[in-house]
Amino acid sequence: MWSWLVCRAFWPSRALWWDAARHFWTGRIRLEHLLWAATINIAVLYVFGMIPLTGVESSFTITDYWRWWVVHLWVEQSFEFYAAAMSAYLLMGLGLISRNLAERAVYFEIILVFLGGVLGTGHHLYWAGAPNLWIPFGTMFSFIEVLPLVLLILESIEQRRLIKAHQEFKYGLAYNYVIGAAFWNFVGAGVFGGGTLNAPLVNYYEHGTFLTLNHAHTALFGAFGLLGIGLIYFCLRYVAGDRYAFKEGPGYTAFWLYNSGLILWITLNFFPIGWAQLNAVFEHGLAYARSPAFYATMSIWQWLRIFGDVVFAIGALLMAFDFFMKLRPIFPEHLRRLLPGALATDPEPGAGRLGAGATRMIVPGSPES
Ligand code: HEM
Ligand code: HEM
Ligand SMILES: [Fe+2]
Repeated sequence: MWSWLVCRAFWPSRALWWDAARHFWTGRIRLEHLLWAATINIAVLYVFGMIPLTGVESSFTITDYWRWWVVHLWVEQSFEFYAAAMSAYLLMGLGLISRNLAERAVYFEIILVFLGGVLGTGHHLYWAGAPNLWIPFGTMFSFIEVLPLVLLILESIEQRRLIKAHQEFKYGLAYNYVIGAAFWNFVGAGVFGGGTLNAPLVNYYEHGTFLTLNHAHTALFGAFGLLGIGLIYFCLRYVAGDRYAFKEGPGYTAFWLYNSGLILWITLNFFPIGWAQLNAVFEHGLAYARSPAFYATMSIWQWLRIFGDVVFAIGALLMAFDFFMKLRPIFPEHLRRLLPGALATDPEPGAGRLGAGATRMIVPGSPES
C-alpha cells in the first residue's frame, strides 16, 4: 500500500505513469524510479521471512537463514538504499543540488550498498550452522558496507554547508533529523556494527551480548528512526506552507532528548554491561555470560538504564504532541473544536486545506525530470 501511495504521488496521472515506465525500460532511470524501487524492495524482502509459506520449518538453521534476509537485508540493503535515495531526492527537490549531481551520488552509493550489503549477510551466518564459506565472504563484504556510510556522512557535512549558505531555509528542523540520521548511521551501524562486532574473531565472543544491543539501538533508532521522524517533519512543514506558523522549538528539543537518551543508554547501560559481558564470555563461556547468574552481577547498570529511558520517552511524548498540533493545516476544523483558544491564530476556516499555500517542491514531468 505504501509503494502504491508513493507511486501515485510521483506519477499522479496515467499518462505520467506510462511516461515514467517508458523512461525506465529505455534506461533513463531517474531518482523517482529508484525511490519507488526502494519501496518495492522493502516490501518484497519481508516476504522471505515467511518461508516456508505453509507450515513451520523444522531446521532452526534454515529458519534463521531466512530471518536474516529480513533483518539484515532490510536494514543494510533496502533501508540504506532508501535512505540514500531519499536524502538526495529531498536536496534536489529543495533546489539545493542539481538532478544530475543527486542521481550520480545515489547511483554510486547504491552500487556500494548492494555490493557490501547483499553478501555482507554472511556476518550473521558465521555461527548459525551455515557453510564456512560465509566467514571470508561475510567479513570482506561487510567491511565494504562501511564505505557508503562514510560517504553519507561526508555528504551530510556538505549538505549543512549548502543549507547554511541558503538564506531562508524552511526545512531546517526536518533536515536536522536527516543529518542526525546520517551521523548515527555512521556511528551506530558503521562504528558499533561494522567496526566493533563484525570481525569473525570478535563476533565469536560478543555474539548476542549487550554490545549487539548497543549496535541495534543506535543503528535502528539512530539511523532510521531519526530519518523517519525527519520525513514526517518535512511533510508537516510542507502542508503548513506560508499560511500557518511552524514552531521548530519542540522538534529541536525532542531531537536533543532522543540523542541524549541514546548517549545515556550507551554510557550507563550498553557499554558497562556489554564489555563486562564480553569478558565473561572469555572467562566462562557464552552460556554463563547470557545467564541470569551473570546478569545478577550487573543489576546496578541494568537499573541505570532508566535515565536514558526517561529522557528518551519524554522526547517521544513531546514529539507526538508536536505532531498532533502540527496536523492543524490538514484538519483545521477538528483541531479548532478540540483545542479552542489554542488555535486562535488560524487563517480563515478551511483555508489551509492540504497543500494550499505550500511551496511547490517537486514537479514530476518537468523539463528537469
Ligand atoms: C542502520 C543499519 C543497521 C541496522 C538498523 C542494524 C541492526 C541490527 C540488529 C537489530 C541486530 C541484532 C539482530 C539480532 O540479533 O536478531 C544487528 C546485528 C548485527 N549487525 Fe547490524 N545493523 C545495521 C548495520 C550494520 C552494519 C553496516 C554492519 C557491519 C558492517 C552490521 C553488523 C552486525 C553484526 C555483525 C551483527 C551480529 C551481532 C551479534 O553477533 O549478535 N550491522 N544489527
Ligand atoms: C524506552 C525505550 C526502550 C527500551 C526500554 C528498550 C529496551 C529493550 C530491551 C530490554 C531489549 C532486550 C534486551 C535483551 O535481549 O537483553 C531491547 C531490544 C531491542 N530494542 Fe529496544 N528499547 C527501547 C527503545 C527502542 C527503540 C526506539 C528501538 C528502535 C527503533 C529499539 C530497538 C531494539 C532492537 C532492534 C532490539 C533487539 C536487539 C537484539 O536482537 O539484540 N528499542 N530493547
Ligand atoms: Fe547485518
